[in-house]
Amino acid sequence: MGKIHILHENAEWTAPLVTALEARGLPYRDWFLDQGSVDLTAEPPEGIFYSRMSASSHTRGHRYAPELTGAVLKWLEQSGRTVLNGSQALALEISKVAQYTALANAGVPVPRTIAAVGSQALIDARDTIDGPVITKHNRAGKGLGVRLFRNRNALKDYVFGDNFDASVDGITLVQQYIQAPEPCIVRVEMIGREFVYAVRVDTSEGFELCPADVCEIEAPTCMIDGSEGPERTEKFEILQDIEPPFITRMQRLMRDNDIHVAGFEYITDDAGRAYVYDINTNTNYNSAAENRAGISAMDRLAAYLGQELAASQEPDRAQRQA
Ligand SMILES: Nc1ncnc2c1ncn2[C@@H]1O[C@H](COP(=O)(O)OP(=O)(O)O)[C@@H](O)[C@H]1O
Ligand SMILES: [Mg+2]
Repeated sequence: MGKIHILHENAEWTAPLVTALEARGLPYRDWFLDQGSVDLTAEPPEGIFYSRMSASSHTRGHRYAPELTGAVLKWLEQSGRTVLNGSQALALEISKVAQYTALANAGVPVPRTIAAVGSQALIDARDTIDGPVITKHNRAGKGLGVRLFRNRNALKDYVFGDNFDASVDGITLVQQYIQAPEPCIVRVEMIGREFVYAVRVDTSEGFELCPADVCEIEAPTCMIDGSEGPERTEKFEILQDIEPPFITRMQRLMRDNDIHVAGFEYITDDAGRAYVYDINTNTNYNSAAENRAGISAMDRLAAYLGQELAASQEPDRAQRQA
């Protein structure tokens, strides 16, 4: 019988999924991918394959894990195996340029962005954007290289100084800064291309917003206006009653790019316009926020993977693929 193969390079982020799969008694294989090989002529193992490869793998010493995973995914796809978050999803995971072009293609607004290689190109890029800019790595995650610059000289000092933090792929993005009325962003969680929930994230402590429990930072300060005046909220808060914008377009983007599980982040400006600026195909969930809301996305993900495994084993499906 086939298994649910989980392709990843971070055991800490994978542990909650393993727990959820075990709770449902589903067969799985933990496939840690950092170094290794893939024999392109061999028959892949039975089962389905779910990639959780992360764009920030190099920060954990796994510099070429995404490249190796890309090779494995191509091999699995070529053999006709069920692959969830396949090679095209990985291509988006490791390039925000790929994310933004896909978003634009799906009709989702993104902040104005210029991709630059080279110090002077970065400064020149900034000159074409009105107002403050954000710099960020093209291949990022975890807020790598995300900095806010309100004036040109500060950017120049940074870019030409010793503390310049270069993207692992050499491409830095210079992006229009979206000033939100409150220091919050919203992340939209999709599993099996279905909307699961939206979670509001407090950004007042900086740009590193990983929702995994192991990454959590204490003491949030995001304020929301309640009827009794402003109240302090948790860093991650699941929003039960909102219908996030662009859901249908996000689903289309997922279909077009072979993405099955993702978290889309958006920010809303003073005028109420929403912009999506990040797609996470290696997505983590915050259990404290989920416990308060009485929902578990990892359990939902485990259930979805179980369904996909069962579907891959239906005889008529095997025949169709033969
Ligand atoms: N254009 C922007 N305007 C305002 N804030 C931004 C913008 N881009 C990113 N941020 C802030 O920085 C954080 C990290 O940026 P993001 O693009 O999500 O990078 P990563 O992939 O590393 O998570 C965001 O969650 C948000 O708080
Ligand atoms: Mg992000």
